[in-house]
Amino acid sequence: MPPIYLDSNATTPIAEEAAQAMQPFLGRIFGNPSSGHYFGRQCKAAVDQARKQLAGLLGCVSDELIFTSGGTEANNMALRGLGGGSKRRKIIISAVEHPAITEVCKYLTGFGYEIQVLPVDRHGLVNPSDLSKEIGPETLMVSVMLANNEVGSIQPIAELAEIAHEHGAIMHTDAAQAIGKIPVNVGELGVDMLSLAGHKFYAPAGVGALYVRHGLNLAPLMFGAGHESGMRAGTENVLEIVGLGAAAELAATELPMRAAHMRAMRDRLEAGLSASLGGLHINGHPTKRLPNTSSVSFPGVEANTLLDGLDGELAASAGAACHTDKVDISAVLKAMGVPEEIGMGTVRLSTGRHSNEEEMDQAVEMLVDAVTRLGAETRGGGEM
Ligand SMILES: Cc1ncc(COP(=O)(O)O)c(C=O)c1O
Repeated sequence: MPPIYLDSNATTPIAEEAAQAMQPFLGRIFGNPSSGHYFGRQCKAAVDQARKQLAGLLGCVSDELIFTSGGTEANNMALRGLGGGSKRRKIIISAVEHPAITEVCKYLTGFGYEIQVLPVDRHGLVNPSDLSKEIGPETLMVSVMLANNEVGSIQPIAELAEIAHEHGAIMHTDAAQAIGKIPVNVGELGVDMLSLAGHKFYAPAGVGALYVRHGLNLAPLMFGAGHESGMRAGTENVLEIVGLGAAAELAATELPMRAAHMRAMRDRLEAGLSASLGGLHINGHPTKRLPNTSSVSFPGVEANTLLDGLDGELAASAGAACHTDKVDISAVLKAMGVPEEIGMGTVRLSTGRHSNEEEMDQAVEMLVDAVTRLGAETRGGGEM
């Protein structure tokens, strides 16, 4: 039996529907979408169809989408592609962004950009009034993630976008964790750019997209022939783009049901753990949170030791790393003000569309056993 998978925020398996859509492109159907002949036209039609499917999910127009290699590339394109021709040199982000944003920002400081980091509250949320205080005529862009990968908190993007626009700034959101879990509509969010990653919603890894609102002037990262309307040179990854399109259509069709199912599984986990271990410390907003995400802190236990002990039985992620002389809790937990002694025992459990009740009950049992055992060892003076 493979371990129970509770790491859907890291990646998801390819949906059967996506795999089936991709199958012909592993053999029978091939061609360069730029070729004008039969083979090329078939592939061009497939890429066009995928773009329509993704546009349908996001509520945008097909030609506002640029296919990329994933979330990281989409974020790089959004942050590094803007700014040419503008005197504005300030970028505002939140304190809980993914490295695919923070590392790009670090890089941009070398080119004269000032990066302003907005704090978050104990639930991991940005306060729009903090943005109002920091934003000004020098602000080029505000980039705040839609949902956090570690704790699942959902940011007030529409409000932030309104403030950004009042000051003539561009609003970008990294929606890699939100797509396929909550409804995402670019019009309702009011964003100018939005990044997504296929492998977080049952498409293969290595494909993603950036939504760029019509009329926004963005420079490409990659130069070459004129693929993706000149925005991303290189022959299209037809196979995976087809998978992305199918996964987007699947998400659009089953989202309410999927979200309810993932939530039921997540809540079952939390209820089970809470019943056996008492007052759970759950990180993230109690209600404004992804339906599949549970960041649970087990005080007195070290997360990696806990997960290593369950290797082969349960797959999940740790929110902290313990070294010989110190504990490193994640930047997200730190920004939320989670104390070290609580943060060090943080495990991220993220359910998916395949999670089932039996697995959740088994996972609870495994975690309760392991936490009880490790807690007793720690109290008895065992190693951290
Ligand atoms: C919030 C967020 N942004 C960006 C990424 C990067 O996406 P990709 O792995 O497709 O480059 C991830 C993946 O972990 C993520 O969680």
